[in-house]
Amino acid sequence: MSKSNGRRARSRAITDAALTSAAGVAEAGPATTRRSVRVRRADTIAELQGFRRWAGMAGAGGPVTAAKLVEAHSGGYLGTALDGSGDTTADEAAVRVGPEALAWAHTVALVAVTDSDDEPIGGLMAGPALHFLASLPSRYGMAPVLAGIMRTSKLHFVAVDEAHRRGGVGAALVSTAIATARTAGADLLYGQFTTSDRGLARFYSGLGFDLSPPDRPLDFTSILGISAGPAPMRGETFFTRWFYGPTR
Ligand SMILES: CC(C)(COP(=O)(O)OP(=O)(O)OC[C@H]1O[C@@H](n2cnc3c(N)ncnc32)[C@H](O)[C@@H]1OP(=O)(O)O)[C@@H](O)C(=O)NCCC(=O)NCCS
Repeated sequence: MSKSNGRRARSRAITDAALTSAAGVAEAGPATTRRSVRVRRADTIAELQGFRRWAGMAGAGGPVTAAKLVEAHSGGYLGTALDGSGDTTADEAAVRVGPEALAWAHTVALVAVTDSDDEPIGGLMAGPALHFLASLPSRYGMAPVLAGIMRTSKLHFVAVDEAHRRGGVGAALVSTAIATARTAGADLLYGQFTTSDRGLARFYSGLGFDLSPPDRPLDFTSILGISAGPAPMRGETFFTRWFYGPTR
């Protein structure tokens, strides 16, 4: 896949250079074919369509997820509120068209590419969990939903093409997501994994996440202002990284 042209300035608030320095440059691939890898925003339709592969690998709704990413990108929302500059224009515009657009403005789609030929070899998507936030009791109004969108980010999925695993690419993607969430002013980056997958437990704990006891819900009271939090799917464990709040 070729490097993107015509990227829109608004969606590039965090530059390739900033992302690269946030993640460091990962050395990827088996020892005999180690290659230098860069992490940056995915922001062309072709690149976002490629997310069907990584979302599929992670069991996160391959084609449907990729189609939603493309739609959010085409609508001009994807990742537009993540630079932490204090310019709320994007947020205000998104509020006018609804919480879904605001959630997309706080969502990042990252791609890991080889430095030599810009070949995509891994992807990550992180942003507010609108499904959970939209399920909050409507009697509390929009305030908890908006707080959740602005201050929580869920690592929806990360995946690396099989031939490039165990070379630091997944770690570089997640490290960039951590830096992005922190810059954007989130209190928390979290996600969940299948409890029996000890490789993933090692992967996330090695990246500085706290692992919750299996099957235990999270408590978002300090963020949402109401007593609520997402519950894991059966057999899943949450991992959390707080930037401000309970365990920083
Ligand atoms: C999980 C995944 C993204 C990790 O990507 P990766 O590029 O192989 O990970 P890294 O090389 O950055 O791993 C960093 C560290 O995490 C740990 N780790 C990663 N994968 C591991 C595994 N399968 N078993 C044990 N430890 C593992 C190791 O400590 C590793 O460091 P080391 O290789 O020096 O020992 C990749 O295995 C993948 O795409 N899996 C399929 C999709 C998936 O399950 N995604 C997660 C759910 S959303």
